[in-house]
Amino acid sequence: MKIITNSEQETFALAYDFASQLNGGETLCLIGDLGAGKTAFSKGLAKGLGVEKIVTSPTFVLMKNYIAKAGNINKLAHIDAYRLTSGQDLEAIGSSDYINDNNCVTIIEWADRVRNIWPDNCIEINFKSLEGDEREIEIKK
Ligand SMILES: Nc1ncnc2c1ncn2[C@@H]1O[C@H](COP(=O)(O)OP(=O)(O)O)[C@@H](O)[C@H]1O
Ligand SMILES: [Mg+2]
Repeated sequence: MKIITNSEQETFALAYDFASQLNGGETLCLIGDLGAGKTAFSKGLAKGLGVEKIVTSPTFVLMKNYIAKAGNINKLAHIDAYRLTSGQDLEAIGSSDYINDNNCVTIIEWADRVRNIWPDNCIEINFKSLEGDEREIEIKK
């Protein structure tokens, strides 16, 4: 599924709506250049999963964890792999506990850098900056 959004708000809303399709146990692998909208998407998804805290980019830590409230889903793990070249550091901080948790949704920004930890059931989402504020967002299942 390919969608074009024309503002940060539209990307947020897309993710907010997409959250309602999740059941828990999903890993969303977000790929795209700096400024392509990965964090904007993550914020909308978090809101859609009932996360009350403001979600900010975890650039200076590898992972931030939030309490979610969406049926079965009670946790959101938000990972930023920007500075990584493999998933080893993530495994060291216990990322697989979250990835394998059926009550958790895991988002990985810059997921192309840590392909070795992608679970079989991951949902790949590609972000492309087009003209101005246009972003092409492709959700692959
Ligand atoms: N259609 C759009 N979707 C998402 N962000 C957009 C869009 N148009 C402009 N922007 C801007 O682009 C930037 C996206 O930043 P961010 O979500 O942090 O990107 P990333 O996490 O991919 O580096 C923000 O400054 C946002 O306001
Ligand atoms: Mg980001």
